[in-house]
Amino acid sequence: MNLKVKNKTIVISGGASGIGLAAVKKFINEGFNVCVLDHNQDALNKLDKELTEYKNQLLSKVCDITQSDKVSLAMDECMARFGSINAVLPAAGIVKDGYFIKVDRDTKKVKSHMTESQFKEVIDVNLTGTFNTIQQAAIRMIDNQCKGVLYLVSSINQAGQLGQLNYATTKHALAMWPKLLVGEFHKQNIDFIRVVSIAPGYVETPILKNIKPEIKQKIIDNIALGRLVQVEEIISTLWHIWENKAINATNIEISGGHIQVGICK
Ligand SMILES: NC(=O)c1ccc[n+]([C@@H]2O[C@H](COP(=O)([O-])OP(=O)(O)OC[C@H]3O[C@@H](n4cnc5c(N)ncnc54)[C@H](O)[C@@H]3O)[C@@H](O)[C@H]2O)c1
Repeated sequence: MNLKVKNKTIVISGGASGIGLAAVKKFINEGFNVCVLDHNQDALNKLDKELTEYKNQLLSKVCDITQSDKVSLAMDECMARFGSINAVLPAAGIVKDGYFIKVDRDTKKVKSHMTESQFKEVIDVNLTGTFNTIQQAAIRMIDNQCKGVLYLVSSINQAGQLGQLNYATTKHALAMWPKLLVGEFHKQNIDFIRVVSIAPGYVETPILKNIKPEIKQKIIDNIALGRLVQVEEIISTLWHIWENKAINATNIEISGGHIQVGICK
């Protein structure tokens, strides 16, 4: 018996790297059509080459998700090519870490601070970009009665992480969106779209490339599992969410039991 999914489409932003890329491979292998939005042209070219055997199921678009008009055009193209959108994974996200204010140990004077652009760029990609992606997809899902899932990608650092005022702010907000959105949908009898957020712990992907080895080891020391989370463990959770229709309006942590320090309770 062929159990492959048929005539279902997922849109994945940030699908050229890390968690997004692994999700592209999983969903396409399960039979989904996959529309990938990413602003990295070279990485998309590499993806197209790697997945040539799936070319009938794959549409990759260079797209900056912070620009709603570009996201809208990409969704139109996705609908024209595949006829439906049934899942959306807005995995594009960035970090630009730094202390809000950093004081020099000797002089006790301010020596640096998180810049406005450092703050705004993270808000733009992680929040506005996610807003654009799921909204443009949801408009088409509702207008075409496409049943499915809007995923959101939060982080365990939604609970706060020193040096991540910008990033943690976005991830805290995203963890809240499933309840708000399912509430709004249910009030309007739109019960065929589920909204589920995942909050990964530290996963070995290119987003961690600037973390020094000794800091990475300190992070691992605080994980009960004794290692970083594997990307496959995130993907199997996404797949379980797709299959288990009872999961809705919630945020699921996948951290290996990460103990966080330094945050006031
Ligand atoms: N890796 C982790 O430890 C971890 C932990 C918790 C949450 N997350 C979240 O998971 C998501 C994926 O992270 P990852 O580790 O796979 O990162 P990654 O850096 O490997 O991939 C991010 C992708 O997003 C794309 N992107 C960035 N800005 C974009 C924009 N404006 N428009 C379109 N594409 C853009 C990049 O080109 C890249 O392909 C992010 O939201 C991240 O915050 C990651």
